[in-house]
Amino acid sequence: MADDPNAWWREGVLYQVYPRSFMDADGDGVGDLRGVIDRLEHLQWLGVRGIWLSPVTVSPNADFGYDCANYRDVDPSLGTLSDLDELIADATRRGIRILLDIVPNHTSIDHAWFKESRTSRDNPKRDWFVWADPSADGGPPNNWVSTFGGPAWTLDATTGQYYLHNFLPEQPDLNWWNEEVRDAFDDIIRYWFDRGVAGFRVDVAHMMVKDAELRDNPPATSEDSFMDQMRGQLPLYNSCRPEVHDVHRRWRTIAESYSPPRLFVGETFVGKVEDVLAFYGDGDAFQLNFNIPFAECPLEATALRTTIELTESIIPVGCTPVWTGSNHDLSRFPTRWAGGDPLLARCALMMLLTLRGTCFLYEGDEIGMVDTEITREQVLDPVGIKFFPYAGRDPERTPMQWSGEPGGGFTAGAAEPWLPFGDLSCNVADQRHESDSMLSLCRDVISLREALPDLRAGAYVSLDSPTDVLAYRRGERIVVAINLGTEPEAVEGIRGEIRCCTDRSRDGEKIEGVLSLAPSTAAIVLLAR
Ligand code: GLC
Repeated sequence: MADDPNAWWREGVLYQVYPRSFMDADGDGVGDLRGVIDRLEHLQWLGVRGIWLSPVTVSPNADFGYDCANYRDVDPSLGTLSDLDELIADATRRGIRILLDIVPNHTSIDHAWFKESRTSRDNPKRDWFVWADPSADGGPPNNWVSTFGGPAWTLDATTGQYYLHNFLPEQPDLNWWNEEVRDAFDDIIRYWFDRGVAGFRVDVAHMMVKDAELRDNPPATSEDSFMDQMRGQLPLYNSCRPEVHDVHRRWRTIAESYSPPRLFVGETFVGKVEDVLAFYGDGDAFQLNFNIPFAECPLEATALRTTIELTESIIPVGCTPVWTGSNHDLSRFPTRWAGGDPLLARCALMMLLTLRGTCFLYEGDEIGMVDTEITREQVLDPVGIKFFPYAGRDPERTPMQWSGEPGGGFTAGAAEPWLPFGDLSCNVADQRHESDSMLSLCRDVISLREALPDLRAGAYVSLDSPTDVLAYRRGERIVVAINLGTEPEAVEGIRGEIRCCTDRSRDGEKIEGVLSLAPSTAAIVLLAR
């Protein structure tokens, strides 16, 4: 277990549950909290230390939970507050902490705060959101574009002003310059901490505070990232404002007032590793921050080594990197990184689980679930509806594949699942019985990590290796080598024993100087003393 009980997350593997797609206990085709309770045994067996639950609060689901209409209650389609209390209690008994997802950048258009705010210009809640007069030509107040495309402003006829939404028009942005908004969220955070929640994943943490003067964003150039070029502008004034760190530090102070301290994990969806690191502050802001530039790096040894080394070299002393390959917004790594090749997916999983820091798995990563093809008629994600044939994020949100039976072990009901099933031949029930499965590999590496302090906590050092091999030492005695190329390769100067190989027939093999690796093969070696 964790060496420091106050930092249980530091060396642990955490697991993201997307509740609508995890397990449907009431048979209506949508996953729910009782379903998560029913499947806790799987997560305990797998060895994860915590669960990040994507939003379970009340939502009209314009963006499937990420448009919140009440921050203090559970959405009826997912269950009740007492189901959530029971989930927290049951998980805690199993040694698993629960993190909720908090969405502070914006509410739902149906939230009581916004309903009040839009009634008149002098309503007491008016300033809780970002309202501005039309520009001289009657158009939006500035040139900001929404992350989901189109202008970031919508004119509200009642009062003749525009409101800001960095995402859908159904997701009005809160005004984080307003002290009452800050106080309201302090209370919401304490409300959940007092209920036993171990922490929060903070949605769109980087965007919460906007430029007070609402200045125009500069145009993107051909030098800028793909995302910025798509957007046509650099999100200089509606993202990553320096003042956002004050809010995060304030939240950290609340977290530290609990025993053990509660955890904040920032969703810091930024383009460069350097930009992620600011969210750690001087170790006084969020304890963990997602490293999206790593997830977006190609599965190539040189590119990965560069990104990992950069992360390791510039992260503030004492802070912990986060490694993740998939989530509910990103194409699943067995598809995106591995192109559907199961051997490469195993290599990627081994990398995620053996880098220094906190690893987040997304439901289905442990069995190598790939993205599911979604037709135009099936698309539900507003981003997919807008940009089809890009199907948005539904391909990575299809139901968890628990078994090959009809209903996939996901639902016992006759109702169709809310999104179609992927290939049910890839499922938990079958893989649990196969010692050579991705699921067994995942569980075995997690348990090795718990058993070997060097693998769990040892410093990261890159090792010299052939171009297509990513190789590193962890602590004094662990070497991990991953051949991502198409030719057999060899890493020299290794003496010890393979403790786990993606080719399981090699587990236990003695290495007397040269570690040979077939293409798409990875191994963890315990060095001889
Ligand atoms: C985050 C969520 C994503 C959501 C967006 C707006 O990026 O992960 O699913 O659409 O915020 O809330």
